[in-house]
Amino acid sequence: MAETTSLLTPASVAGAAYIVAALLFIMSLAGLSKHETAKAGVSYGIAGMTIALVATVYATFADAWGTPTVTTGLTLLVIAVIVGAAIGLWRARVVAMTGMPELIALLHSFVGLAAVLVGWNGALEETGMSGALLDIHHAEVFIGVFIGAVTFTGSIVAFLKLSARMKSAPLMLPGKNVLNLGALIAFVVLTVWYVITPELWLLVVVTALALALGWHLVASIGGGDMPVVISMLNSYSGWAAAAAGFLLNNDLLIVTGALVGSSGAYLSYIMCKAMNRSFISVIAGGFGIAAPTSSGEAEGEAREINIEDAAELLRDASSVIITPGYGMAVAQAQYPVAELTSRLRERGVRVRFGIHPVAGRLPGHMNVLLAEAKVPYDIVEEMDEINDDFPETTVVLVIGANDTVNPAAAEDPGSPIAGMPVLKVWEAKNVVVFKRSMASGYAGVANPLFTRDNAQMLFGDAKQRVEDLLRVL
Ligand code: TAP
Repeated sequence: MAETTSLLTPASVAGAAYIVAALLFIMSLAGLSKHETAKAGVSYGIAGMTIALVATVYATFADAWGTPTVTTGLTLLVIAVIVGAAIGLWRARVVAMTGMPELIALLHSFVGLAAVLVGWNGALEETGMSGALLDIHHAEVFIGVFIGAVTFTGSIVAFLKLSARMKSAPLMLPGKNVLNLGALIAFVVLTVWYVITPELWLLVVVTALALALGWHLVASIGGGDMPVVISMLNSYSGWAAAAAGFLLNNDLLIVTGALVGSSGAYLSYIMCKAMNRSFISVIAGGFGIAAPTSSGEAEGEAREINIEDAAELLRDASSVIITPGYGMAVAQAQYPVAELTSRLRERGVRVRFGIHPVAGRLPGHMNVLLAEAKVPYDIVEEMDEINDDFPETTVVLVIGANDTVNPAAAEDPGSPIAGMPVLKVWEAKNVVVFKRSMASGYAGVANPLFTRDNAQMLFGDAKQRVEDLLRVL
């Protein structure tokens, strides 16, 4: 009995709790992969994180309970948790759905910064290790600091670009690929050097190098490829956390970091496939991607349509496809759009939604909005499922989408978004585009759809215009 009790050390209790938390994180990822189970997925994630936090605090303080260092440590920890939680709660409550991607980018930068700080702490702290173990420790420090610093500045640039504080066009420094490659080679050489002679100035150099590389990698990527960059930074933040886990000797951080790192990498791969981009070229800071040359304004005369005529088109339609984009999120038009859908369906019109994989500003953005407005899942179709059906469609309603319905991607090899698969809305009999002006979308590319013979513009805020349409109908 006495032996059994002695096995229950704080570390072993925490270890058991970490296994439970890791399982909950895996269940959370599995849950998040489907609409129906997404809510449960979020709950598993919250439960896992709560267990992980409690177990970590317990394991950190249990052994030294009652000593003065514990009191100071606990006080600092409580202050940090209260301040962090208050800021987190406040931001999460006030952030608009359209501001989520930039908030996520900013949060990734914190993970990167944390990995840099943990790495530096690992370098300055006395480890008591020697021989091969010490060499491994030095390599961990160096790699952790490097990944963390790249993630930190890369995420800050992503935040600035997404919040329009920095131009979304790619930065085209002369010899940018050589610069990136040179930085990577320098990192490998410096790592070997640091393992052999762990001098602090090497760590300073690698930190500065990685900060500059992160900045340059993301600044070199243009607007249209930003979705891939965000999921890539998500992946980097996972690897940065895993590196910190090795340094802190925390198994759960390693498991969680690896989960985030690998799922982020896989998401980047899916996004690259969806956008017909080379995965390597995007993670190498836009290697081989040309700078956009378009003016951003559509050329030619666009035809305008009024509400009555748009309503008339819908009254006579037998099938309608709605392709929503970022503008639907800005206008919060999903509720009147859902109302319009059910009204048309009651009249016997076949209504479906065509969702582009990068519509909006974050993966699944449109699906979340439509689910929020209670649009039935079975009429919400992915681009590949619906893209051949446009020729048999009477009316397409483009609600605040632009880049994702741009024919230049399919027809103009010189376009910056050439080769990116798009919803072929222009093949339908009639296209009505809901937007406020002739301005270009996120990628800054002119859209020839607006001047096509079968396309008409319904200018104004998408929510107001759809509500007007509902009134007339
Ligand atoms: P965009 O090409 O960004 O176009 C959105 C359009 O909505 C704009 O042209 C804008 O035109 C219009 N709009 C804005 N507010 C509106 C309002 N209140 N009412 C009506 N229209 C409004 O959208 P998209 O087709 O969804 O494409 C997404 C773009 O974002 C892609 O380039 C994609 O690569 C990029 N991106 C995506 C993600 C992810 S993961 N989804 C992440 C980062 C970047 P007006 O100003 O004329 O109204």
